[in-house]
This record gives sequence, C-alpha cells and structure tokens, in this order.
Amino acid sequence: MDGFELNKIIGWALAALLVIFGGRTFVEIYNGGHGDHGEHKPAYAIEVADSGAKKGAEKKAEVAVDIKTLIASADIDSGAKVAKKCAACHTFDKGGANKTGPALYGVVNRDLASASGFGYSDALKAKGGKWDYDALAKFLAKPKDFAPGTAMNFGGIKKDNQLASLIAYLRSLSDNPAPLP
Ligand code: HEC
Repeated sequence: MDGFELNKIIGWALAALLVIFGGRTFVEIYNGGHGDHGEHKPAYAIEVADSGAKKGAEKKAEVAVDIKTLIASADIDSGAKVAKKCAACHTFDKGGANKTGPALYGVVNRDLASASGFGYSDALKAKGGKWDYDALAKFLAKPKDFAPGTAMNFGGIKKDNQLASLIAYLRSLSDNPAPLP
C-alpha cells in the first residue's frame, strides 16, 4: 500500500521533472537555435563578402559604359587641365607638330597611328581601327594594356572623371567634333 503510494508519488515527481527539464531543454534548444539563426556569423560574413564582390564586379562592368556617359557631361576645362600631363610629349593645337608623341588635334575618330610624319611603334601600327571613345578610354586608362609594346611611356589616367573630361577635351579639339557618345 505504502509502496504503491510512494511509487505513485515518485512517478508523478519524475513526470513533473521530465516536463520541467524537458520543457526547459526544449526552450533552450529553441532559443539556442533561434539565437544562432539571428547571429548566423559565418553565413553573414559570407553574405557581406559576397555582396561586396558583386558590387565590385558590377562596378567593373559599368566602367566602360560609365566613361561614355561621363564624357557626355564632362567638363572640358578640367579635361584641358588633365591634358597638361600629356603636353610634354603632345601638342593639342590645330596644325601642332609631332613631338615625342604624335600631334593630337582631331584625334577623336582618327585612324590609329595615322598622324603624318610620326614614327609609330609596331604595336600601335598593328592594332588598326579608329580612336573612338572606347579605344581612347582603354588606351588612356592604361596604354600598355591596350597596346602592349606601345612607345607611349605613360602610366595612364586612373580616375574615371579625369579620363572622361580628358576625352571630352580631346573631342573638342576639332573643326567638326564627333557626336557625343
Ligand atoms: C612620355 C611621353 C608621352 C606622354 C606623357 C603621353 N604620350 Fe601619348 N603618345 C606618346 C607616344 C610616343 C605615342 C606613340 C605611341 C606608339 O607609337 O606606340 C603616343 C600616342 C598617343 C596617342 C595615339 C595617337 C595616334 O595618332 O594614334 C594618343 C591618343 C595619345 N598618345 C594621347 C595621350 C594623352 C591624352 C596623354 C596624356 C594623358 C598622353 N598621350 C601622354 C608619348 C606620350
């Protein structure tokens, strides 16, 4: 009798403990899981790196487009200032002479390597094509990438806005400027 009652009490106590601890464990698991989910450290870091890389890629892909967009609204006067970096080797005035580099008046849409009387490198002569906005943007951003072996000993213009205003300035050096991009 007593044994039966005791068993019953112990049984209920165990059941109660099970409910209490079981419940707590469940809550802990739930909270733990939830907390983890909220913090999600590794996954978050990857996400950030991912979107950063994406942004970088997007930026790169946009550059070529951007330069042309920028040229359309670029400030020619700032371009003339950037062009001072070129003046050691190039003339910009109409009828200007070749110096270390070929005369640049009217260079936009001119054939590559076509200034009369200038001795171009084989690298530039072999390229062919016209100095359209794309070619100028690529060449002036990094001459040695556009035409490996070029004789133009110049690192390039790194800033998009400077590059755009420089090209807008070059475009203005013409009796009949090429249409804006
Ligand atoms: C250190 C001298 C030097 C500097 C500085 C220089 N260039 Fe040149 N540039 C040259 C030479 C040399 C060539 C001929 C390259 C060849 O034959 O490979 C050339 C070629 C060019 C051409 C091709 C022209 C054609 O007729 O095909 C353009 C455009 C040009 N330069 C623009 C510029 C601009 C714009 C700058 C300033 C941002 C500049 N260069 C700075 C020496 C220079």
